[in-house]
Amino acid sequence: MADYKRLISGNKRELLNFKGNLLSTAAGKTVKSIMVTSAMNGEGKTTAALSLAYTLAVNAKDNVYLADGSWNSPKMDKIFNMGEVQGISDYFRGEVGLDTIVRQTLTENLSVIPFGKKTTNSMEILKPTMLKEKIDELRSKCDYVIFDSASIMGSADIAVLSTFFDGVIMVVECEKTKWQVVDLAKSKLESAGANIIGAVLNKRKFYIPRWLYG
Ligand SMILES: Nc1ncnc2c1ncn2[C@@H]1O[C@H](COP(=O)(O)OP(=O)(O)O)[C@@H](O)[C@H]1O
Ligand SMILES: [Mg+2]
Repeated sequence: MADYKRLISGNKRELLNFKGNLLSTAAGKTVKSIMVTSAMNGEGKTTAALSLAYTLAVNAKDNVYLADGSWNSPKMDKIFNMGEVQGISDYFRGEVGLDTIVRQTLTENLSVIPFGKKTTNSMEILKPTMLKEKIDELRSKCDYVIFDSASIMGSADIAVLSTFFDGVIMVVECEKTKWQVVDLAKSKLESAGANIIGAVLNKRKFYIPRWLYG
């Protein structure tokens, strides 16, 4: 069994309703590209992104691209045993096309885009020219792009990046991250103009829609 199935095994049932929630909160707007973020590191972004992507691919039979955008600790290459391969950072820099970086996994309908060449300079992923167009190109090739991002408080520019996606999901680690910090992170996204479509209350496994969260 692939590692990632172990990572998400506790999460599947809760995620079954996720697509319905996505659609119902989107109010007629097509939500195809989704950024997964959180206020702080370690709250469970990668796990939630993986679970959401897997559920959409397997249960909803949608063609899903799971992209690793967590420049400070990219993990998808290890999780999916890919070795050192090119990925989204190389694509954003304009060095490779989508054909090179989108990798079909053993799970039908689920493709992974690893981070690619490592960098400690977040600007390489946040500031390329035509970034929105590149994200939109990804979006046009599949049913859903799930973008596993870095955390909001770690970067001044993550809020701007979030506006290039149709929707943003915030992961909140229950009983760990202070609500003031979550509020501050959420208002950073909102003042940039992000469309927050929901929150994952992690390690309690509740999914709450926007009307309840806000
Ligand atoms: N729902 C959960 N229940 C238990 N452990 C979890 C859950 N979600 C994440 N974890 C664990 O918490 C740690 C951080 O999760 P991760 O998804 O890597 O966070 P992030 O991507 O936000 O840094 C990992 O060890 C992961 O296995
Ligand atoms: Mg992560």
